[in-house]
Amino acid sequence: MTGGHLQIVVCAAGPAADVTQLIKTATQQSWTAAVTATPSALDFIDAQAIEQLTGHPVRSTYRSSPGTRRSLPATDALVIAPATYNSLNKIALGIADNYAMITVAELIGRQVPTVVVPFVNAALAARAPFQRAMADLRDERVRVLLGSDDGWEPHPPGSGSSHQREFPWAAAFEAATRMAGDGPASSADHG
Ligand SMILES: Cc1cc2nc3c(=O)[nH]c(=O)nc-3n(C[C@H](O)[C@H](O)[C@H](O)COP(=O)(O)O)c2cc1C
Repeated sequence: MTGGHLQIVVCAAGPAADVTQLIKTATQQSWTAAVTATPSALDFIDAQAIEQLTGHPVRSTYRSSPGTRRSLPATDALVIAPATYNSLNKIALGIADNYAMITVAELIGRQVPTVVVPFVNAALAARAPFQRAMADLRDERVRVLLGSDDGWEPHPPGSGSSHQREFPWAAAFEAATRMAGDGPASSADHG
């Protein structure tokens, strides 16, 4: 599919600083993009740079500044990247305690093609809650990019910063566009 709208949700992990790579990949392929950040992720991103690239303000709360649209454009695909241990467990359980989480909950519920790219260390990835969360999300037809088949694995504890540059932004977009091939567009205004 070409020319859709990509909703990106960033969580608070190092690769969030590089989300502009995903935006540029999307716009080069005639997609539009908008970014929603978890409250903690705001410290990891350059919101101004993102806004310049996307033409949309970075959303992280329910409140809109004057003049901004309340609802997002119809969404053809959702990429949650980087997805933290914290947010992944919440998404799988259906917890929606911030604007990013309710956006994700609603878009997955509307069966918008969704790709999740975790950025976790091996100790966190070994936890039973995380394993259950991955399985539950896959049961909901969420594409989780993690494992040897995807060429993307949890990193050794303490080595996150040296793996940040390897974050698979291009693979995430490719997976999303593949899924979006025949998926319905859906708006997310939480109305
Ligand atoms: C510098 C820094 C780096 C972090 N890196 C990661 C990470 O790579 N993966 C992860 O799951 N959490 C990481 N965390 C912890 C999360 O930021 C923390 O769990 C936070 O509550 C997640 O919030 P969110 O899921 O709402 O974005 C990091 C925290 C800091 C301060």
